[in-house]
Amino acid sequence: MRVLATGGAGYIGSHVVAALLEAGHEATVVDNFSNSSPLAVASIAELCGHRPQCVELDLLDVDALEALLQGGDFDGVIHLAGLKAVGESVAQPLRYYEANLCGSLNLCRAMQRVGLRRLVFSSSATVYGEPQSVPVTEDAPTGATNPYGWSKYMVEQLLRDIATADAGWHTALLRYFNPVGAHPSGRLGEETRGEAANLMPRLAQVATGRLPNATIYGDDYPTPDGTGIRDYIHVWDLAIAHVRALEVLAGDTALSAGVHTWNLGTGRGYSVREVIAAFEQACSRSLPQQVLPRRPGDIAAIYADPSRAERDLGWRAKRDLVQMAQDHWRWQQGHPAGYEDG
Ligand code: UD1
Repeated sequence: MRVLATGGAGYIGSHVVAALLEAGHEATVVDNFSNSSPLAVASIAELCGHRPQCVELDLLDVDALEALLQGGDFDGVIHLAGLKAVGESVAQPLRYYEANLCGSLNLCRAMQRVGLRRLVFSSSATVYGEPQSVPVTEDAPTGATNPYGWSKYMVEQLLRDIATADAGWHTALLRYFNPVGAHPSGRLGEETRGEAANLMPRLAQVATGRLPNATIYGDDYPTPDGTGIRDYIHVWDLAIAHVRALEVLAGDTALSAGVHTWNLGTGRGYSVREVIAAFEQACSRSLPQQVLPRRPGDIAAIYADPSRAERDLGWRAKRDLVQMAQDHWRWQQGHPAGYEDG
């Protein structure tokens, strides 16, 4: 297939593009490089022995987007472009809705115009809010607690409405749990500009001395060790699921039509303390730790029921927490401040 990957130079996008090439598909990267580097594309080329086409473009530039789709002859789109920092979304809601919602609207309109209606969308387990029970299935109630989460929720709804109006659309909503790690080769990973916000990138910054200690946001949750529980998933496992989802949409089974929602997680939750222990094992040093109050907006525990993805996509996450930490650490050591610093 010829696949357009929006946000294809980003953390998850770069892994998805590498997985597409590895599976024998062709990929075109579209990225505005607001939070990514063109060097990611060069790295994909080195890794796969084949350079994907790369177009610098913002999804808010409707004319450029339509021109690209008109001339592209694509079989499908994997839409990963978007802003993803929860705290930033609270401070800058307009920017978040514009990038995530307007960008998606523009993409869908351009796709509709050229008759391209096969789409895999990068959604998030954030749409489950605080789950009533775990593990969460795709049928659990949804909502959001911040503009980032609402933007994912709204795009999901937009895509369902488009598919209701036009049965020709084939859509996958992929709800990621907590993506971490890096490509096992150490060549692809997350560009962390400044101080990281998420747990594993922060631990990596502690291990390199950039942050003084690992912060545990709350040890008084109703969990076995008192710290928050999440379903961490290796980014390479996640990337492979995108390829499978697109292949299923392009197949000729009942699953190729309509809108499908798939949880992408391991099905296993780990506490903050367990993640710190795994990272300490990976980097062979102990990390100084400090317990702080709970982070506003955080929930006690969430992890996926990934059985629908296993059944429909023939996919399951294979890499465990130690491998996630090892691969994350390998990337961090090779690229302390991202691609420019490799
Ligand atoms: C958050 C977002 C999610 C987003 C994801 C990746 C929410 C509700 N969820 O997930 O939508 O897709 O980031 O960008 O905001 N923790 C510490 N110390 C730290 C950092 C985190 O104890 O220094 C804890 C948190 O309290 C949480 C766990 O580690 O229990 C994971 O946190 P984080 O990596 O930030 O991800 P989420 O908040 O789960």
